[in-house]
Amino acid sequence: MDDHKIRVGWKMIVVLTLGAAGFAIAPYVLLDSGQSRVSLSASFSLHYPLLLVHIFASFIALIIGWLQFLPGLRTKRPHVHRRVGRFYLGFVAIGSITGLVVGMYTSSYIRQMAFLTLVAFWLFTGWKGYRTARKKRFEAHGVWMIRNYAVTLVAASARLVTPLCILIYLTLHRGMSFQGFEPILNQVLEVNIWVGLVVNVIIAEWMIVNRFKKR
Ligand code: HEM
Repeated sequence: MDDHKIRVGWKMIVVLTLGAAGFAIAPYVLLDSGQSRVSLSASFSLHYPLLLVHIFASFIALIIGWLQFLPGLRTKRPHVHRRVGRFYLGFVAIGSITGLVVGMYTSSYIRQMAFLTLVAFWLFTGWKGYRTARKKRFEAHGVWMIRNYAVTLVAASARLVTPLCILIYLTLHRGMSFQGFEPILNQVLEVNIWVGLVVNVIIAEWMIVNRFKKR
């Protein structure tokens, strides 16, 4: 693939990702709990505040994370790369811990396990990325940070794969009686995070292999 096609591909990914993440956070920007799409627990007063902290910390990580992959910034301004990197990992830590707490209030076990897996991957890859940078093992650092950002992007990819999951559901269940759209969406929302995670992990590993092939 030539450089121009790769650049166009990257721009499309950035636009789609920011679009999906922006759409997801829209109901939360006015800080009105009545607009929350997550059903809030009546017995846990911190549910909504923690959900907000999760959403905004994770969103900032998603926005600043891609800057770290710009080769110009890394080579010409390494101090900016280091500072943004520390902020990024700080937001990942805040986003993951609050995501873990909020996730345990989700009624579905399948979604709880998806959130638990994401948090574990997010923290582990972030920790490995940090440690390898501290030890000046920059090749390994790049690999771990690709993996880490792939987990960050699950917030967008899980939403982007949702229409595809609906289509697959309808294809697999054709001929069955139609009970309305909501039951279908509820089933799809049980699996979309897992599908988004698998897609991102495959793309990340493919990019890592390609990186080494070019050397
Ligand atoms: C990758 C690690 C992440 C984990 C483990 C995680 C976890 C969670 C959990 C547990 C919830 C509550 C869902 C529910 O109770 O049904 C949630 C909601 C949400 N998260 Fe995350 N999240 C992650 C990344 C992100 C990122 C990077 C963003 C950036 C935009 C984000 C934005 C949101 C939004 C907007 C909601 C509200 C969802 C809705 O309105 O339906 N999350 N997340």
